[in-house]
Amino acid sequence: MLVAGLLHDLGKLGVSNQVLDKPGPLTASEFDLMRAHTGLTHSLITPLHPLRDIAEAAASHHERLDGTGYHRALARERVPLAARVLAVADIFDSLTSDRPYREALDPDPALALIEREAGRGLDPSAIDALREAVSDRGSLAASAVAGRATTRGTVSRGSGRRPPG
Ligand SMILES: [Fe+2]
Repeated sequence: MLVAGLLHDLGKLGVSNQVLDKPGPLTASEFDLMRAHTGLTHSLITPLHPLRDIAEAAASHHERLDGTGYHRALARERVPLAARVLAVADIFDSLTSDRPYREALDPDPALALIEREAGRGLDPSAIDALREAVSDRGSLAASAVAGRATTRGTVSRGSGRRPPG
């Protein structure tokens, strides 16, 4: 799963930076070029024998449960489970990252947009896993902030000295 996630967009090596970094909407032909990256991912990974098993999952990350995705327009259970997880993670990563054509969203609004596709294009169980991961990450971040505050308070309290650093 990790390797499939790392290599899922390998096929973008075959897409020009003019298309990848275009600040505005893509033309129909540019969109076709962009859509070709999943097939190229499959072609690049499949000959690498140890990675052959992940080629299908990596190359299917733009497939949708309703059959409207690419590169093979797979539907429902024909979309590999790993690809369904990758799809949700990839969309979340995209929405929460700055792009040439828009600024990043915060995690909660990004998750809300993804949840609108539950059961249509995206796997609800994969979205549940994402929601849990985002929630855990928020808890970890809150704990880290609280831990830093506690550490600062402990170090500076009583001694009258400044904390190191
Ligand atoms: Fe992609």
